[in-house]
Amino acid sequence: MKPLWHSLRSRADLEILRAVAPEVESIIGADALALGYSKNSEGSITFQGSKKLLNSIQSYFEINLVDEVSFFSPSGKAGELFEIPVLHEQSDVERIYLVGLGDESLTAYRAAGAAIGRKVRGKAVEVISLCAESKSQIKAHAVSALLGAYVWNMKSEKTAEIPSIVIATKDLESVKLASVIAEALYTARDLIHTPSNIKNPKWMADEAKKLADEKGLAIKVLSGKELAPFGGLRAVGNSSPNPGPRFIELSYLPRVKSSAAAALPHIVIVGKGITFDTGGVSLKRPYEFMTAMKSDMAGAAAALATISALPELNPLVRVTVLMMCAENALSGTAQRPSDVITQYGGTTVEIINTDAEGRLVLADGLAYAVENLDPDYLIDIATLTGSATLGLGRQHAALYSRDDKLAQQFVALGESSGERVWQMPLVDDYADSLASDIADLNHAADKGDYSAGSVTAALYLEHFVGDSRWVHLDIAGTGRSETDSGENVKGGTGFVVRLFLDWILSLS
Ligand code: BES
Ligand code: MN
Ligand code: ZN
Repeated sequence: MKPLWHSLRSRADLEILRAVAPEVESIIGADALALGYSKNSEGSITFQGSKKLLNSIQSYFEINLVDEVSFFSPSGKAGELFEIPVLHEQSDVERIYLVGLGDESLTAYRAAGAAIGRKVRGKAVEVISLCAESKSQIKAHAVSALLGAYVWNMKSEKTAEIPSIVIATKDLESVKLASVIAEALYTARDLIHTPSNIKNPKWMADEAKKLADEKGLAIKVLSGKELAPFGGLRAVGNSSPNPGPRFIELSYLPRVKSSAAAALPHIVIVGKGITFDTGGVSLKRPYEFMTAMKSDMAGAAAALATISALPELNPLVRVTVLMMCAENALSGTAQRPSDVITQYGGTTVEIINTDAEGRLVLADGLAYAVENLDPDYLIDIATLTGSATLGLGRQHAALYSRDDKLAQQFVALGESSGERVWQMPLVDDYADSLASDIADLNHAADKGDYSAGSVTAALYLEHFVGDSRWVHLDIAGTGRSETDSGENVKGGTGFVVRLFLDWILSLS
């Protein structure tokens, strides 16, 4: 029997998000309206949006909005939400959500959007938000509303209906952009949520093929003997008998003449796609940490989701995604501590701790990109180290780059997109931790004791990037949420899809 699972993103019907004209006549057919308010330092309440429309809503439903909010003694915090019942014979609207817009920053518009999305999550209702006005507000708000409404489960009874989220605006373009971004985030989340008895490397390749066909991307998948040069991917992935590791390459070209395309900047994104990380022979402990490891392919998922959105956005850049997919299993064919492997391109590596598998699969991808793809930008994204989470928590991803300008651009885009990154240092003094007596490198920074696991992992990767403009993103903390709150459900977040898309659009 085909397993039944319910994502709010039904592939056939992606019309979850729409726009309507901001007029009383066009909004009274909804089940609910969402209105945004702010509270200033003197404590007075103001509503966002056109005065004319607000006045019409007030007279239509015979309510006074400021009185209604004041009744709840609101804090004004972004995402605070109060629900009031309304009634009018000629209207379907039964509720108005009064939503706090905090300091009216984009972060606040996101929190308000997420609160509205949560309110309608799993219900077959239509809500029209009148909160956002400018392009950037609409984009931030609408994407977060869809994230707040996200559902994924494999319950045998269908438990979730699909809501409809509508933005009252004439700016159809911003709503369209938001729906493309949200669809990509849903794609990433669906992949990350899928359990690892279903999600093996071959499944990842099949999903990538489906998306490539649907969106019009080129795809190449390598497996078995074709993976001979990919020593890292094989060493990790051959621990799992069936089916083995996969190297998945997707490419996007804009709809321009091929001679013009060749001159465009080329971005290569390499994603860690460990479909489950037991740690291998160096078994992960404590075992409770292991249940989260179905998310260890969140980097590859974010990369795939990003490229899947590009044909609709048609940015003038070339993008190649490399998904390095393997399962890190505990088995008789698993690699052993003390093995020596050969990464793509010939670097020999002494294996120390088989739980440091991510850098082995990534290094093959980075070296492949340098040798074959001539990248202008080489980016990797990975749930790489617990240390990244120890240092930065779950709100910021660790970013490493020698290009400080590019790094600061990512930091700024992280802030505006809602996916924050923080630049960490590539400390040259720690480089000797990667020395080995018997190979070119040891992969686990075994020499010396620098207690900087996220930094030394980045230094390991740097050995494979040649002289590329390289950015490494460690999303171990941000790729997965352990709580169901705000934009996130417990599970995959889709982290870095928004930042990547904003960055790619900014280059074009
Ligand atoms: N996938 C883990 C990192 C991770 C930990 C991601 C927690 C998300 C949440 C990675 O493969 C790993 O096991 N890293 C080790 C490296 C160590 C053995 C050098 C770590 O961080 O402990
Ligand atoms: Mn590991
Ligand atoms: Zn891992």
